Formats: sequence, structure tokens, C-alpha cells
Amino acid sequence: MHFEDLIRQRYSARAFQDRAVPEPTLRAILTLAQHTPSWCNTQPWEPVVTVTPAATDRFRAALWAHVQAGSPPRPDHPFPVRYEEPHATRRKRCGGALYTALGIARENKRGAFEQTLKNFRLFEAPHVLLMFCHESLGFYGGVDCGLYLQSFLLAAQAHGVQTCAQAALATYPDFTRTYFDVPADRKLLFGCSFGYADPDDPANNFRTERESIETQVRWIDH
Ligand SMILES: Cc1cc2nc3c(=O)[nH]c(=O)nc-3n(C[C@H](O)[C@H](O)[C@H](O)COP(=O)(O)O)c2cc1C
Repeated sequence: MHFEDLIRQRYSARAFQDRAVPEPTLRAILTLAQHTPSWCNTQPWEPVVTVTPAATDRFRAALWAHVQAGSPPRPDHPFPVRYEEPHATRRKRCGGALYTALGIARENKRGAFEQTLKNFRLFEAPHVLLMFCHESLGFYGGVDCGLYLQSFLLAAQAHGVQTCAQAALATYPDFTRTYFDVPADRKLLFGCSFGYADPDDPANNFRTERESIETQVRWIDH
């Protein structure tokens, strides 16, 4: 697939078929993502990946129980506390598109909350990736892992596998570290549920838009 098709066709999938991604495909995707550039080629990404649906289901059940117990969120890297313009409007538009696709009315706060909670069920995906990075690398380690994320998303798309990057999966890092036996100096940045998207689910039947380069880029020509 051409790069242009790949980057235009990728989208965040939030409903998946049950079937697993075969291990050779998974290895091919992860091998491609290893080509990501990084600061001094430090390659600081340390993703934990569930290779079988059974392993994913076990983690899903444990995470869900943790959330249902009312455990307080304590992300390693603080989430934004408010959104300024133009980010606030773009965020609202993207959430609105999802809720419209799902038939959740604007005033239906309960419905929106329940949809948000599906993050912690990994949108019922058969696989999940959880991204850890050594704390010593700070902001630029995060940049490198973000680059890795895009490589992973596009490599997956190239292999017919759909993804949903999820900051929500960084909400309970202590729980996630303990569950996967990850040392405390590895900070949890984000997760990514993935598998074969369910094309019939309305959650997958909307697409987000992008600003034009005129809006985003300061074009210096003199
Ligand atoms: C770092 C990062 C964190 C994200 N966190 C979430 C999340 O917690 N839950 C979710 O449903 N989508 C999440 N997304 C997906 C974004 O909402 C999505 O990428 C954006 O709306 C653009 O839509 P698209 O991916 O379909 O092009 C995240 C994306 C990124 C890159």
C-alpha cells in the first residue's frame, strides 16, 4: 500500500472482531515499528504486547475490576486539566462525532460516560500494547515513543490490522506495572488496543477531520 493511502485510511477503531492477529503478522508489525527514529538512536520504547486473546482477556478483566473498585487515577505524566482554544473545540467535535455515530444524545451524560468506560475494556480488542519508557529520558523519551506509536499504527494498517491509541490506558500505571511486573522506573505513556475492526459497528463508522496546512503551519518565505 502506498504511504499516502496508508496515512489517509488509518483511523481509530473502537470495536473489534474476536479473531486474533496471527503471531507472524504481529511480529512483522513490531519489526517494522522498530525502524522508528529516536534521540541518539536510544530506542527507548518498551512496549508490553498481549500476543493471545486469552492474555488480553485476563488483563482486561483485571483492569476492569480495578476501575470498578473505584481506584483513583494516578497517571505518571499528568493529563491536561483543561483545554484552551482551539484545542477545546477540536476535542468537542471529535467526541461529538463519536457520540453521534453511536446515537448518544448531547444531554445523555450517562451514555457518554459508559462509552468512555469502554476504554478500560480495551474496546473488546483481542490485543493491547502498553507503552513504557525509562523515566530518565523525560520529555524526549516520550517524543520517541510517540513516533513509535505512529510507526506501529501505520505498520498495523499496512497489515490490515486496526488500532486505537489510548491515553486512557495510562490512567492506572501502578496497577499496570504490578500486573505485568514492570519496574517502577518505567513510566507508562499510553496504550493501544488493536485487532481486526468490526466494520458493522457504528463506533467505526465516522472519521475525524484535519485542519488545513494554512491553519496549522507558519509559512515563512522571506
Ligand atoms: C496519544 C493518543 C492518545 C489517545 N487516547 C485516546 C483514548 O484514550 N481513547 C480514545 O478513544 N481515543 C484516543 N485517541 C484517539 C484519538 O481520539 C484519535 O486519534 C483522534 O480523534 C483522531 O482520529 P483518528 O485516529 O480516527 O484519525 C488517542 C490518540 C492518541 C494519538
